[in-house]
Amino acid sequence: MGRFLNKVLNIETVYTFNDLILLPGKAEVEPKEIELKTKVSKNRWINLPFVSSPMDTVTGSDLAVALAREGGIGILHRNCSVEEQVEMARKVKRAESTIIRDVIVVKPDTTVSEAIEIMNSYDIHGLPVVENGRKLVGIVTWRDVRYSDRQLKIKDVMTPRERLIVATTEVSIDEAKRLMQKHKVEKLPIVNNKWELKGLITIKDLELRGQYPMASRDEEGRLLVGAAISPFDLERAKKLEKYVDILVVDVAHFHNENVIRATKKLVKEVSAEVIAGNLGTKEAVLETLTRIEDIAGLRVGMGSGSICTTGVVTKVAAPTLYATLQAAEALDELGLHGEIPIIADGGIKNTGDIALALAMGASAAMMGNLFAGTKESPGRLIAIQGKYYKEYYGMGSARARSKRANLDRYSKPSKDIDEGVEGWVPYRGTVKDVVKELTGGLQASMGYVGAKNIPELWEKARFGYIPPNGSQEIRPHDILIPKGGTN
Ligand code: IMP
Repeated sequence: MGRFLNKVLNIETVYTFNDLILLPGKAEVEPKEIELKTKVSKNRWINLPFVSSPMDTVTGSDLAVALAREGGIGILHRNCSVEEQVEMARKVKRAESTIIRDVIVVKPDTTVSEAIEIMNSYDIHGLPVVENGRKLVGIVTWRDVRYSDRQLKIKDVMTPRERLIVATTEVSIDEAKRLMQKHKVEKLPIVNNKWELKGLITIKDLELRGQYPMASRDEEGRLLVGAAISPFDLERAKKLEKYVDILVVDVAHFHNENVIRATKKLVKEVSAEVIAGNLGTKEAVLETLTRIEDIAGLRVGMGSGSICTTGVVTKVAAPTLYATLQAAEALDELGLHGEIPIIADGGIKNTGDIALALAMGASAAMMGNLFAGTKESPGRLIAIQGKYYKEYYGMGSARARSKRANLDRYSKPSKDIDEGVEGWVPYRGTVKDVVKELTGGLQASMGYVGAKNIPELWEKARFGYIPPNGSQEIRPHDILIPKGGTN
């Protein structure tokens, strides 16, 4: 047999989300009791397996804050300057925390007018006043400056050190809360025995903690967040690592000698966990994990994205479900499945697709399209014939590529073709609404399979193949649906 005929005879079947279903199994708990907590990287857990794509019409700081509050995590896009990306990350980390470490301060000689400007630009209402670097000498709040002469100095309007309520670094959250309630203050500076400012606890943060019990948080109570980077841009990675929990190497084809070498170097230089992607085959995953120590996660799927034209223009693809299976097989072979998470990325249209990806071995699902339609995504909102839509385009589209080329000297295009389209997706309401729908659907799906949590889904899931004609039967059919029905 000739080598080409041999290739044809050994053609692999590549299943996509549209081909498979999950078969029912015995349920032992009710859907609402199903636990969706999962790993997004080797050492980071999130409460729901939902990750947003690093795209400039999907994940900016607003979406990352909203998604982390609900229990998922956002990966900040990199289609902007390093400074802008760092600022987005800082915003997420500052959105809430048990103790703010990165405190914005003013000096005694700052003017009231400058302090107002700082308060407005960071949207905060109290600033500790420090001199000689970190020595706390007072606190100034919105109430102190609101009606004051703009030219006055902060030292003339602040609450001075003698009247300050402060706590030491050992204070517990309950003690801090009691202190603030007793003295009717909203901000509690944390100092050491030399009166050096070590942090700030605010009543607002403590209240937010109660308001978002599902939030994905770090050890200091701050929201979890990730950022996309190029493996060739160490400078960006170094600047971001202070403010993010995970860095996601964001290239279309990770299985590339230069990318692997650059990532190997980068992983050694940064302290944040690094996720590699995108990967599509078992060989790619095996090579990645054997050559680069400390890879903390795998982002898999090539060609399935709703805005993606890679599969059309190049005829090369590793659809998300296939790539997930490939990665799961590789991890199993290395004894690392469950240890290093797989993030299934691209082509997810609904909760059923998420359930399939998780059942195939993924720990979480990454979504662009579904989150692009939310209120918090950065894309523009428009109305077309009475319906609302939000702008959404691929990071390989002409639009995104030209924006990137203008901004980032590291992303000199290695190819001369567009691999993405631009368009509009239906407006879906807030991130909270979308997450609620996804959570309910996923729990229902896992309930039918009989899995109490994601690791159990990996064990219990059984797949069925639906031949092309069959897919019509398992969706609404033979009925006229006026509008908004499932298609
Ligand atoms: P979606 O959720 O189906 O819209 O897929 C989003 C995913 O598509 C992203 O997380 C990326 O992996 C991928 N992607 C983003 N932009 C492009 C592009 O321009 N071409 C190909 N894939 C893209």
